[in-house]
Amino acid sequence: MKGTVVKGIVRKLDLSVSQMRRIRKAVEAEMDAGLEGRKSSIAMFPAYCDAAGGHEQGFYLALDLGGTNFRVMMVKLPGNKRKPQVVAEAKYKLTPAQIGGTGEALFGSIANYLRKFMNDHCYTKEYGLGYTFSFPVNLLGINEGVLMKWTKDFSASGVVGRKVVDLQNKALRRKGVKNVRILALANDTVGTLQAQAVVDPNCVMGVILGTGFNIAVRVATSHIHKPIGAYQGASMIINMEAGGFDRALPLTSYDLQVDRESGNRGHQRVEKMISGKYLPQLVRLIVLDLVKHGALFDGVVPTVFAQRDVFKGLHMDVFDAGSVKAVNALSEELFGRVLAPAERRILSGVCRAVARRSARVAAALIVASLDKAERRSATRVTVAVDGSLFEKYPGYKRMLQASIRDLAGVEGKRIHLKLTKDGSGIGAAAIAAVSLASG
Ligand code: BGC
Repeated sequence: MKGTVVKGIVRKLDLSVSQMRRIRKAVEAEMDAGLEGRKSSIAMFPAYCDAAGGHEQGFYLALDLGGTNFRVMMVKLPGNKRKPQVVAEAKYKLTPAQIGGTGEALFGSIANYLRKFMNDHCYTKEYGLGYTFSFPVNLLGINEGVLMKWTKDFSASGVVGRKVVDLQNKALRRKGVKNVRILALANDTVGTLQAQAVVDPNCVMGVILGTGFNIAVRVATSHIHKPIGAYQGASMIINMEAGGFDRALPLTSYDLQVDRESGNRGHQRVEKMISGKYLPQLVRLIVLDLVKHGALFDGVVPTVFAQRDVFKGLHMDVFDAGSVKAVNALSEELFGRVLAPAERRILSGVCRAVARRSARVAAALIVASLDKAERRSATRVTVAVDGSLFEKYPGYKRMLQASIRDLAGVEGKRIHLKLTKDGSGIGAAAIAAVSLASG
């Protein structure tokens, strides 16, 4: 009986190749709609820049806001396809009051941190800055854009519907930061793509698989049928906001509940199946269901699962693939006892099934997006990927690669997934340089 319940749930999470094909087709249709400016769950926001070519040079500041950790960097782009260097870096943790208070307070604290960074490093000259702002922003040009909605638990008031760079510039003036010019505003996916393109021009896609999920892709400008201002280039990077995709998804009751309990109900449906913020929530709901059916923990909900967000992604890592010693140590910490082998097996099976489904759904979105990509080489394509799920979750990269091959066949072998650390910071600097070069 217990075994049947567990197997049934794991089977529901197993995505077949034909389900992946359906998702791929639906993604392509939504991408077309987005590029034509029709209603679509994939926004396809123009990024107003092409992929970097490797010749970009100079020192640039980068601001990276996309989660509760906020970073300021000074980046050196050496040019000649040589690896960029982060010359100086500072990380700050934003408080719940800063991400959930007023926009004025949020941008004011960012300005304060930047001023402190400039003072600490005696940066007194004039600097161009690339701003990675990893939320759905409808760019109006390379250095201005309107926030469409908050994601990932951000909720600062007075920002949605407003111009982000304008708000940040006002805060910089208020705080007396005078020697910084925001040259470019970009999404982290675009930054990740650029950070890789600086050293590898075959990179035409950037993916984030971390707290959130999203894809940026280089497309031919002739395929963009919505207004793109005075942009002249033959290709342009598009911030897809792929996390909003909501068609052809085999949603389970757990997905529906995660959505109902989220702060952005009805939005970011595929992000809630893929990204690191939501996977532990799915595991928790499945565990609760198993407990309810008497299939786990003798029908009693352990405290760690009683409330949301106590069981975390890093715990999933351990239960999925940790050594017996590590699992036992974590079990002591979370459950106050060592789990029985059967309990351990079920918990690890659930974690693996949730992570594997995430990888397969992500693979379908990546393959579909590549179908539309404007490549620089017919034989090789690099996909730059950043984010904790891809980097740290045991076996995630392997599952993603295998799923891409399942769906794309031989073509899948030409797709190289490349971990691009700090893409959002280095990439922001690259975009600032690209923007300056293109006037
Ligand atoms: C945001 C995207 C971002 C992604 C990864 C999503 O929640 O909407 O703009 O690229 O997270 O950080």
